[in-house]
Amino acid sequence: MTYKTILVETHKQVGLIRLNRPKVLNALNDTLLKELAGALEAFDADDAVGAIVITGNEKAFAAGADIKEMADASAVEMHKSDFIPSFDRIRGIKKPVIAAVSGWALGGGSELALSCDMIVASETAKFGQPEINIGVIPGAGGTQRLAKAVGKAIAMEMILNNRTLSADEGQTYGLVNRVVPVENYLNEALALAAEIATRAPLAIQFGKEAVNQAFETSLTEGLADERRAFNFLFATEDQKEGMAAFVEKRDPRWKGR
Ligand code: CAA
Repeated sequence: MTYKTILVETHKQVGLIRLNRPKVLNALNDTLLKELAGALEAFDADDAVGAIVITGNEKAFAAGADIKEMADASAVEMHKSDFIPSFDRIRGIKKPVIAAVSGWALGGGSELALSCDMIVASETAKFGQPEINIGVIPGAGGTQRLAKAVGKAIAMEMILNNRTLSADEGQTYGLVNRVVPVENYLNEALALAAEIATRAPLAIQFGKEAVNQAFETSLTEGLADERRAFNFLFATEDQKEGMAAFVEKRDPRWKGR
């Protein structure tokens, strides 16, 4: 498959997608988001891939939605567009997705990082929701996911007053998993993804789904869903293998079945 706006590679069990519109700081347009969602879905369907990394380049993860392409759109055109719904496709990915962020992660770029399951940031990463500067608000989940990630106080400042978070602040507020020197951020994300990719695939997928449920439902419903998922895993070969391997003091061999 050839793409116009992304580069796709595999590193053993890890799928890597690089956003590739460097002249516009990886601004997200319809084509890019469709290609990104398609590449993620292809990795999700590939049994040889256990985890996925999305990255940009050192200067920019992504500087948001492509303002030039959006500037003249009508409300009806925005409503009909696949732009925002592509984020729902990204949300539907079952395998873990890690954002490797360096430089700008603004607007839709920040929202893309927030749509991932973990964020590895370079020391230069900057997270912001500057939509207020162009007369709108975040439209790809920023008001919801950011508030859940960093809390109301910081989210309000970011969305109402264009406060930008450094990588270290992002880590302090629970947005970012790890901050590493710029030379290492991609390798660190790939190493984290590679480690996760060696683990029991179905348990990984159910674990991701269950943690995400925590942000969607009541505690009672979330606990019930978690229990059903936990019980369901006893129908898998991997549960039998994992527990047998523990008892027999050997490494498990996962099958994803
Ligand atoms: N859309 C379109 N083009 C963009 C862009 C964007 N979001 N961000 C940067 N670019 C383009 C610039 O227009 C410029 O192109 P030209 O060379 O043709 O002029 C090129 O990328 C380089 O950008 P700058 O010269 O501005 O670089 P800088 O280092 O001086 O500034 C920046 C970097 C602070 C990130 C600045 O580019 C900027 O403020 N970008 C816009 C950020 C923004 O407002 N994002 C939110 C978009 S709306 C959104 O995302 C809605 C949503 O929720 C889905």
